[in-house]
Amino acid sequence: MWIHNPVMLEQVLCYLDIKRDDSIVDCTIGEGGHSLRFLEHLDGGTLLGIEQDEEILGRATKRLHDYAEHFIPVRDNFSNLKSIVQRTIGKGVDKIFFDLGISMYHFKESGRGFSFNRDEPLDMRLDQSKPVSALDVVNTFNRKKLTEIIWAYGEERFSNRIAHFIVGERAKNPITTSGQLADIVMRAVPKKFWPRNVHPATKTFQALRIFVNDEIEILEKALRDGVDLLRPGGRICVISFHSLEDRIVKSVFSDLNKGCHCPPDFPVCVCGGKQFIKVLTKKPAQPDEHEVEKNPASRSARLRCAVKLNTTIPTIREEEMRFSA
Ligand SMILES: C[S@@+](CC[C@H](N)C(=O)[O-])C[C@H]1O[C@@H](n2cnc3c(N)ncnc32)[C@H](O)[C@@H]1O
Repeated sequence: MWIHNPVMLEQVLCYLDIKRDDSIVDCTIGEGGHSLRFLEHLDGGTLLGIEQDEEILGRATKRLHDYAEHFIPVRDNFSNLKSIVQRTIGKGVDKIFFDLGISMYHFKESGRGFSFNRDEPLDMRLDQSKPVSALDVVNTFNRKKLTEIIWAYGEERFSNRIAHFIVGERAKNPITTSGQLADIVMRAVPKKFWPRNVHPATKTFQALRIFVNDEIEILEKALRDGVDLLRPGGRICVISFHSLEDRIVKSVFSDLNKGCHCPPDFPVCVCGGKQFIKVLTKKPAQPDEHEVEKNPASRSARLRCAVKLNTTIPTIREEEMRFSA
């Protein structure tokens, strides 16, 4: 059995700065690797673990059995973060953690076609109740839509050609396995353009997975809801694994980190905007070389962290009004 190595664990602990009676939300509990260490720090606090994949949540719940009295497992999507917190913890939280993407379990054991190195039924749904699987996308979406998905979520320069090959192949036989799909992509991407260190189907598989699980569209709202739920002084920490995700984290954090949103040529602030967080990671933290050597899957991880401010910083306009009063 594979155990997922929690990525950048020591740095996450350092940034989250967990206190014994904290209320923590792990929005992506996976196999519970990070949460196990969070729970070790608690004494009187609570950890709410959210996970949309029923099977992996079962594994985490077993693994964290010794801490059952502090642990609330919830099978749900973190897009419902606010309502989940309201019906479980029911108050403000101190720490929020996201470790985005999928777990080693999904690649190695789920049997759902996440990996181009395995020949498994094409599915790629984390939540098995979702209506559309990778099988449906690959076999029924038209070429234009396939191109858009592979380009938008994989940034794959051969998206059009790959979509063309997929449509050509499925006219002969339905594409039902990850092995078949990997083979089609390998034929679609000209050999001289194959990337040196990764499989030529990496970006296509990533794109389909992101689309099927709606990974990008829900992220911004979930991050904003997370910040909103935090008590003053609370912290939010996010690990992302590709630039599409990291761009969203960066832009949400930088938006909440700045008070005034007026155009730069306005002489004074008229928006009255408040600064909600202070970003603690000017640049995203990355795993060190020892971690990458031990766990190559960690190489693309980027960690960003912010603290919720206790007092909102006054805008220039508020300052001016204060002085002119
Ligand atoms: C990288 S893994 C987390 C690994 C975990 N930190 C550990 O150490 O074991 C990400 C997990 O988040 C889950 N997940 C992804 N998107 C989700 C969402 N929108 N809502 C709930 N869970 C999600 C995936 O099913 C996966 O198990």
